[in-house]
Amino acid sequence: MIVLGIETSCDETAAAVVARRGDRPEILANRVWSQLAEHAPYGGVVPEIAARAHLDRLDALIAGAVADADIALDDVDAVAAAAGPGLIGGLIVGTSMAKGLAWALDKPFVAVNHLEAHALTPRLAATAAGWVDFPYLLLLVSGGHTQLIACAGVGDYRQLGTTRDDAAGEAFDKTAKLLGLGYPGGPAIERAARGGNPGRFALPRPLRGRGGCDFSFSGLKTAVRQIAGGETPDSETVADLAAAVELAIADTLVDRTANAIRWFREHHPEGEVLAAAGGVAANAHLRRRLVSLAADFGLRFAAPAPALCTDNAAMIAWAGVERFGLGLVNGFDAAARPRWPLDTTIGAEEP
Ligand code: KG4
Ligand code: ZN
Repeated sequence: MIVLGIETSCDETAAAVVARRGDRPEILANRVWSQLAEHAPYGGVVPEIAARAHLDRLDALIAGAVADADIALDDVDAVAAAAGPGLIGGLIVGTSMAKGLAWALDKPFVAVNHLEAHALTPRLAATAAGWVDFPYLLLLVSGGHTQLIACAGVGDYRQLGTTRDDAAGEAFDKTAKLLGLGYPGGPAIERAARGGNPGRFALPRPLRGRGGCDFSFSGLKTAVRQIAGGETPDSETVADLAAAVELAIADTLVDRTANAIRWFREHHPEGEVLAAAGGVAANAHLRRRLVSLAADFGLRFAAPAPALCTDNAAMIAWAGVERFGLGLVNGFDAAARPRWPLDTTIGAEEP
């Protein structure tokens, strides 16, 4: 089975081709065009610029992905696109393109929830470490979402906790801005933290040690703003603050994930895997911490390579493979949905 996937929900234009041979996924092509340069002058993503850039580039990206995969367009068995959540202009560009292709090729269209695509990446990336079976516990950490989810099957997700204010990625992005490190903040903080002393500044760890699996990150930016005092600090202070931010975010994520593991062990004793996905899961410090957390509880840690953590179309194509494999396809009347929570069961008639 071969699926073409299209991702246009935010500021990455992406097209990919993913196959499933037997049980195993195979990424045949994975092209991502970041719009960073277009948005950089504005200090954040401008929705109208994003939509127009998707429109400009998507054609060539799809042609490039099909060429990389060394297939003919007609060889694909289905066309999948992110239909939400995200910026509506981009979602309309991607889903319209996918529907047009599906119609022209007389192949099914699959409307993919972008969060579900992140959530299924541990299965896409399974290689030497082994295949990731359901159920698994997932820490989903992206720019807009921070959730702990028990993944029991395709379309069967139970949210155990979420953030009460900022997402983890947002915390990286906002503190990076305060430190003059630019956007996206996660990779910038990670780079700056390398030479820093994480012990110099004490930053808050809200909810730490309390029950439940919710998160809170907004206190972090307030604390960083107070320490920075409204000016860009000297480079040593920036490094120390970046290291402290990275540590505080990881501490909070690990603390809440430990609670989720206790729930997961009780309710899914057959589960073997703690997984992470989403852009923040690209963070090396966080990954090390999650490896040892999983080991403490006798679980295996699984996370896709960093390039599959941040937004990409291979994850959309893979979600398309998983859904199409179960007969979950959509009509051409399926709408793009700026809001589309993952914890409601995602069935064939959705969206
Ligand atoms: O999943 P993603 O690419 O897009 C969304 O669906 O939101 O996640 C983007 C987020 C941004 O907040 C970015 O700063 C963060 O992931 N991020 C990282 C790293 N790479 C990306 N955060 C920490 N460390 C990284 N290496
Ligand atoms: Zn994403």
